[in-house]
Amino acid sequence: MIPWEFIDSAQVPGNGGELSLHKRGAEFSIRVDGDELMNSRAHGSEDALAELVCARVARRPRPRILIGGLGMGYTLAATLQQLGARGLVVVAELVPAVVTWNRGPLSDLAGHPLEDDRVTVRQVDVADIIKEKHRAYDAIVLDVDNGPDGLTRKANDWLYSRAGLDTAYRALQPAGVLAIWSPSPNRAFAHRLHRVGFEVNEVPVRARGPRGGGRHTIWLARRGPRKRTGSSQTHRELG
Ligand SMILES: C[S@@+](CC[C@H](N)C(=O)[O-])C[C@H]1O[C@@H](n2cnc3c(N)ncnc32)[C@H](O)[C@@H]1O
Repeated sequence: MIPWEFIDSAQVPGNGGELSLHKRGAEFSIRVDGDELMNSRAHGSEDALAELVCARVARRPRPRILIGGLGMGYTLAATLQQLGARGLVVVAELVPAVVTWNRGPLSDLAGHPLEDDRVTVRQVDVADIIKEKHRAYDAIVLDVDNGPDGLTRKANDWLYSRAGLDTAYRALQPAGVLAIWSPSPNRAFAHRLHRVGFEVNEVPVRARGPRGGGRHTIWLARRGPRKRTGSSQTHRELG
């Protein structure tokens, strides 16, 4: 068995944990305080996140997509594969070292997506970008943490709160899509999305794509019309 080799580490801004990069042969692992956040051998759900979003928005005239969390670049690369020449992607990455790793030891994994002219990388909290402007994006793709029950930093809870989802709603174009990765379903969170005014689909995906692996969840939340009374609506999409 090849032993894991420590490559680098960095502090997550805003009282987060320590993010570290490890390598074993051709395999890479990013960990938060020692717990694995992601592994290069299983990126089926990160790819699916991009494919599900692009199936809904990539054919729009000039699609604008915001991706929160660069990680190993798989969601970004899969987005670029589906997006036409007129599409643009903004990638927000909170930890500058992650961008450095993607330009260095991780760059071959997803095929150098940061070099694509359609990509702008911003080394900031994705929440700050979501707050900037109304109706700015056709899709907002969040894989910043470990889903609504975060791992990386407490401040990410805002993204999944009613206030955060309301802000994401306003940052989307009409019929824009908010897509969120999670390790597992969370019925309360799906209902929160619905109450904000999203039409919600909860999609089960596999960590290794067609090869199976762990089961993860992606919420595809389409910006619908605002509800007049959020709490009295019945939940149709989730059944
Ligand atoms: C699980 S990884 C993303 C994996 C990515 N989808 C891929 O395909 O490789 C989560 C990433 O989000 C970053 N992150 C965490 N909180 C963030 C935030 N608030 N804003 C932007 N990036 C954040 C982490 O540093 C990490 O790089």
